[in-house]
Amino acid sequence: MSLKIALGGKGGVGKTTLSALIARVLAKKNSGNVIAIDADPVTNLAAGLGIPEETKITPISELSSLIEERTGAKPGTMGGFFSINPKVDDIPERFSYEKDGVKLLVMGTVQKGGGGCICPESTMLKALMTHLVLYRDEIVLMDMEAGVEHLGRATTGSVDALLVVVNPGFRSQAAAHHIKKLGEDVGISKILVVGNRTKGPEDEKLIRENLKDFEILGFIPELDEVVSSDRLGTRPFDNIDEVPQSIIEICDNIIKLSNS
Ligand SMILES: Nc1ncnc2c1ncn2[C@@H]1O[C@H](COP(=O)(O)OP(=O)(O)OP(=O)(O)O)[C@@H](O)[C@H]1O
Ligand SMILES: [Mg+2]
Repeated sequence: MSLKIALGGKGGVGKTTLSALIARVLAKKNSGNVIAIDADPVTNLAAGLGIPEETKITPISELSSLIEERTGAKPGTMGGFFSINPKVDDIPERFSYEKDGVKLLVMGTVQKGGGGCICPESTMLKALMTHLVLYRDEIVLMDMEAGVEHLGRATTGSVDALLVVVNPGFRSQAAAHHIKKLGEDVGISKILVVGNRTKGPEDEKLIRENLKDFEILGFIPELDEVVSSDRLGTRPFDNIDEVPQSIIEICDNIIKLSNS
């Protein structure tokens, strides 16, 4: 199955929590073959996937010698000549961390120079992102930073959907409109909302009313299991078969996107 999904939304709405749960559910349904991309500089997708804390994960952007080998230029340098089309197709296998059928790739950050950075690191990340979105016959889930800036224009036509996570609070819904605009600007055709941490039908109704021009993929209630595992630093629903029906339904709806 080839399916490319980005998750966005205001800070703290539950993007990482949901990315991990959706990745695990989809891996179960798809006999693995899921790549989860941590594109957030403050990385924490690993915990939700159940990758042990002591696992030292080096973000791709910090693999200096690999970047130099592939682009022909030392990271941290600018200008000069380097390949803008580095080989990346072996990176998902070599530099991901697999758990329960989900391969985690941590992208890392690139220090932005003034006026946009054309440096070896960013070239490498862009090439990798393009490879993942355009050429992988797998489910690729991207936990984005608030925006969708990481997605280059070239790739967004092949992103099946941007899921905008919102909470019942007004501000996250205002942010949804902003993210929708950003998504449309880079050419993502399908932009869907997932309501998270709803505390009942009233919350769902409010979200529907405030976000009339969005298609809503589903709602996930406030979950005690998520709150308590967050406290303990463990992954919620260690047994993935115990996730609530609301999350299963959202995953089923996501799978349908691959055929449309
Ligand atoms: N359905 C839920 N029920 C209860 N708590 C939740 C739920 N979803 C997320 N949370 C909690 O909300 C907090 C923020 O979640 P998370 O880190 O996934 O958000 P985020 O959007 O990735 O944040 P950031 O923008 O900082 O990356 C966490 O403490 C998480 O445990
Ligand atoms: Mg996050």
